[in-house]
Amino acid sequence: MELPIPAALMPRHVAIIMDGNGRWAKAHGMPRAWGHRQGVVALEPIISLCGAWGIEALTLFAFSTENWARPKDEVAQLMGLIVEFFNKKIDELDQKGVCIRMLGDLAGVPQVQRETARQAMERTKNNAGLKLNIALNYGGRQEIVRAAQRLAAKCASGEMTPEDIGETAFEGELYTSGLPMVDLLIRTSGEERLSNFLLYQCAYAEFVFVKENWPDFSPAVFAAALDAYARRDRRFGKV
Ligand code: IPE
Ligand code: IPE
Ligand code: MG
Repeated sequence: MELPIPAALMPRHVAIIMDGNGRWAKAHGMPRAWGHRQGVVALEPIISLCGAWGIEALTLFAFSTENWARPKDEVAQLMGLIVEFFNKKIDELDQKGVCIRMLGDLAGVPQVQRETARQAMERTKNNAGLKLNIALNYGGRQEIVRAAQRLAAKCASGEMTPEDIGETAFEGELYTSGLPMVDLLIRTSGEERLSNFLLYQCAYAEFVFVKENWPDFSPAVFAAALDAYARRDRRFGKV
């Protein structure tokens, strides 16, 4: 698929809240788990296109710190899909030069998910292609509190002083350390909220909300979202 917008207008960092799997399944008379499974199918071409279109970083919301409150079997299905995704796709992603990073509290996920994710990160850490960030057991408030704690610990140990804490130091303690700020945030399924995703990193992001549920998020819908982004006038507080 050709570039939907001029390369110079491409966002460097796209973040996606993949929402609406459950409603998609319900609309098809299927269990929610089937919606999640079709959601993984929808994801694959989007990852490839990000690489092909020269987008530097793609960050996906896979599981929030609040999603533990879902029924136990749904949580288990989502966790199962994470491992299945890596097992099936890691060779191809590695070959394409994708560099995988997990965002979130990996210590809080079951061991098999943690190990699979750690192996994927380790295997792809030197790859120079698309930076694929997967938010798993991720919460934006938790991330900010964690950064504050880490800085406080460094101050307490004498490694730094409170005066050393500026935006650069703070950003260095976020899960997204070293990545550009989010340029484009896409949320599917018609919901128009952030749901605790990348609170700090979205300060000047452009938001594009699409009505399609995530399993219906096709390359054409992605291209349309990029086109909407390219038409925005990003002022960053200036005139
Ligand atoms: C998004 O779809 C997937 C995750 C939250 C992991 P949902 O499961 O939230 O689907 P809806 O919003 O209930 O339709
Ligand atoms: C956000 O979707 C989390 C993920 C997509 C992983 P939710 O479906 O959990 O968010 P709310 O409950 O509608 O805000
Ligand atoms: Mg939802």
